[in-house]
Amino acid sequence: MSNDEPKSPPRRDFLGIAVGGSATVFAVAAGYPVARFIEPRTRPPSGPTVVGKVLEFPPGTVKSVMVDERPVLVVRAADGQFRAFSALCSHLQCVVGYAPERNQIECPCHRGVYSMDGQNIGGPPPRPLEELQVSVNEGAIIVSSVG
Ligand code: FES
Repeated sequence: MSNDEPKSPPRRDFLGIAVGGSATVFAVAAGYPVARFIEPRTRPPSGPTVVGKVLEFPPGTVKSVMVDERPVLVVRAADGQFRAFSALCSHLQCVVGYAPERNQIECPCHRGVYSMDGQNIGGPPPRPLEELQVSVNEGAIIVSSVG
């Protein structure tokens, strides 16, 4: 081989670029859902949202609904009163859920525990759940942010 021949890129360079490009695509594809999951959601709900009908919430039930693309727990107490809480944990914003066997709200990430009135009663959550306003109009349950 003479030194005058045009050099083609070494095979190793091509493989390096291909592997690096694939790794970058994979990192972006895998990282986006993770980033969306852990992203702090500081935007409050923008306005009243109908989340269902009263008949869909029997006394003593808890339902997860979405308000402005944010998870919300709607609690209907045994006496028929409604309350709603943001389902984002006050610790690191994981989505909390109702645990009927213990009748409490729990965070799966670090075992945070909230009472049914949203108070932080166990684990690392530093504050109660954010409470939202609930109203009933002509049989429709309407949730909106406080303030
Ligand atoms: S995010 Fe809920 S306890 Fe840590």
